Amino acid sequence: MSLIQLIYASESRLVEANRHREIDRIVETAQRLNARNAVTGFLLVTSGAFAQVLEGDDATVAETYTRIAADPRHGAIRLLAESPIARRGFARWSMGLAERDETTTFIFGLYGVTPEADLPGQDADVILDLAGELARQSR
Ligand SMILES: Cc1cc2nc3c(=O)[nH]c(=O)nc-3n(C[C@H](O)[C@H](O)[C@H](O)COP(=O)(O)O)c2cc1C
Repeated sequence: MSLIQLIYASESRLVEANRHREIDRIVETAQRLNARNAVTGFLLVTSGAFAQVLEGDDATVAETYTRIAADPRHGAIRLLAESPIARRGFARWSMGLAERDETTTFIFGLYGVTPEADLPGQDADVILDLAGELARQSR
């Protein structure tokens, strides 16, 4: 068993009218399955995109990512990083969530994530740092 961290970004295929309900559903499923699979992580959401950090046993994370990548609620998935880690960065979260909204848009902007430079165009370290910052704030 070896611990890894995987980071990807994708384009949202959610329809605006159902977006919040669908996001609630996604996080509910993610938390339930991840708790069972000892996967932890953090999900960033904007009106047009997702980015996610997944941590856990390498085989389990790979299997989870395969399932997520096949999900029609998003597309154009880009794997940004997959690397061994000594310890989890998001151990408290079976799946944490932060959405860009009126209160968080400033923090997203500080990390260079704007509507013009959305999550799929970012590097893995930007996603990781932003997720870490938002995780600290939601403690
Ligand atoms: C943006 C996004 C993030 C997701 N995150 C997770 C996750 O962390 N863990 C997980 O098991 N499923 C996650 N899902 C749900 C999976 O895509 C899939 O629906 C679920 O794992 C059930 O798999 P199944 O439909 O093959 O049974 C996510 C879906 C989306 C669209």
